Amino acid sequence: MKIVVIGGSGLIGSRLVIKLREHKHEAIAASPNSGVNTITTEGLAEVLKGASVVVDVSNSPSWDDAAVLKFFETSTRNLLTYETAAGVRHHVALSVVGTEQLSASGYFRAKIAQEKLIKESSIPYSIVHATQFFEFLKGLADISMVGGKVHLPPVLFQPMAADDVASAVGRIAVGQPVNGIVEIGGPEQFRLDELVRERLAALKDPREVIADPEALYSGAKVSLRTLVPDKTARLGETRFETWLTQSAAQIPRRKAS
Ligand SMILES: NC(=O)c1ccc[n+]([C@@H]2O[C@H](COP(=O)([O-])OP(=O)(O)OC[C@H]3O[C@@H](n4cnc5c(N)ncnc54)[C@H](OP(=O)(O)O)[C@@H]3O)[C@@H](O)[C@H]2O)c1
Repeated sequence: MKIVVIGGSGLIGSRLVIKLREHKHEAIAASPNSGVNTITTEGLAEVLKGASVVVDVSNSPSWDDAAVLKFFETSTRNLLTYETAAGVRHHVALSVVGTEQLSASGYFRAKIAQEKLIKESSIPYSIVHATQFFEFLKGLADISMVGGKVHLPPVLFQPMAADDVASAVGRIAVGQPVNGIVEIGGPEQFRLDELVRERLAALKDPREVIADPEALYSGAKVSLRTLVPDKTARLGETRFETWLTQSAAQIPRRKAS
């Protein structure tokens, strides 16, 4: 089966392409790096020729409110138009658990817009709602700085390893479209501020993490369970401590391209 992975050079995309190829699928990594741009439409018609499935794991280069909205709207619109012309039978997109409750955040308004376009299109689809990636914990600290300290709400949090995200997305991509949302998450629950504190300590990052009930998550107010999936979610296997040990053992490397 020919499966085009939009954002195939990214954190999830690069892992997904490898896993699909291991299962003997013809997986194509498509991104500006390989001459496929969903904003300009460069290379899109060519790469989609003969594709059965498209998995969109791209992300916006800029997270400014207006830029991220423009990215996901334009990219998704272009993709769906070109997929319709190419006869693609399954559109899979990666989004985030709790997205619909996070509309106060510019990033999440863009993800809501992306999901709306997918639901309104005539292409059968599966939207995967994942929890935060372990790999994103430092990034989360970076976007939660107030006066030189990391301010995070003490809410529940069930993050997962990028490898497990890619495995779950791969399984969904080769299955029947659900025409709805599938939730995936990590095997354990934590408190958001506690886990980010632990991650920064492991990185020897001296920033202080404050448990602040008024703090926003990516610009939005969250309640205790906003970021955790329902009981029906499919859970990854990798526990945080295992991931931490494995990532500490790895030689730092640049993102795959
Ligand atoms: N961070 C989290 O914890 C989390 C949790 C749940 C869901 N998600 C979702 O997961 C998705 C993937 O995130 P990620 O961290 O794997 O992304 P990432 O590593 O930042 O990779 C982004 C990818 O998008 C590609 N891209 C950028 N502009 C493009 C364009 N115009 N046309 C085609 N491709 C383009 C990039 O290609 P180049 O390398 O060629 O520039 C790259 O392959 C996002 O949609 C995000 O919302 C994230």
